[in-house]
Amino acid sequence: MDKPDSLIIAPSILSANFANLGADLAACQAGGANWIHVDVMDGHFVPNMTIGPLVLEACRRSTSLPLDVHLMIQTPENLLPAFAQAGATRLTVHVETCPHLHRTLQQIKSLGALAGVTLNPATPALLLKEVLPLVDLVLVMTVNPGFGGQAFLPEMLPKIREIRQMLNAIGSPTWLQVDGGVSAETLPALREAGATAFVAGNAIFKHPQGIAAGIEALRRA
Ligand code: DX5
Ligand code: ZN
Repeated sequence: MDKPDSLIIAPSILSANFANLGADLAACQAGGANWIHVDVMDGHFVPNMTIGPLVLEACRRSTSLPLDVHLMIQTPENLLPAFAQAGATRLTVHVETCPHLHRTLQQIKSLGALAGVTLNPATPALLLKEVLPLVDLVLVMTVNPGFGGQAFLPEMLPKIREIRQMLNAIGSPTWLQVDGGVSAETLPALREAGATAFVAGNAIFKHPQGIAAGIEALRRA
């Protein structure tokens, strides 16, 4: 069980070798990853397409780690049951795609999954205020979503600090996750700002010494 004060490393399989995904998942688990981050993109909300419930279900059969599913899709309500059924541990939705966010978070919980909520770089922290007590995780995007390997946006640091303060004010144990451009270089400032869960694609899967070394480098940072 992950404790709220532990540091969570969540490899994003967007940067994995999809021709041998099972082996990469096994290497993540052996290398000490805490969660597996799965980026779902629909070609509408973001300009890229990736993983559906079928591949998530294959991941579920290949690892016992929690599956942290980041839904970059329009009208996520329609697909939440399929992703929950496929084995998602947590379903994280974008504020920008959910006009009835409160209802959507309730739907996720009713499906037996943990509920996460996330913000694009242009979206202010204030939009989360009313739903903070409902969520298990807040994800602050530190790039514009759609692709791996983009440069970290340092102007997101004040937003991370602001959300940390909002969580502390209500005594919430909610994870504060960051995603995009996370590396051994950028992680210390993110942690200092209050992040507790770190998604990383390229820093792990493209590490010159391999996946385990990539995870270890982040943990040491
Ligand atoms: C971006 C995705 C990220 C991405 C991170 O839209 O949500 O999870 O895979 O990749 P890196 O760590 O390479 O920036
Ligand atoms: Zn992601």
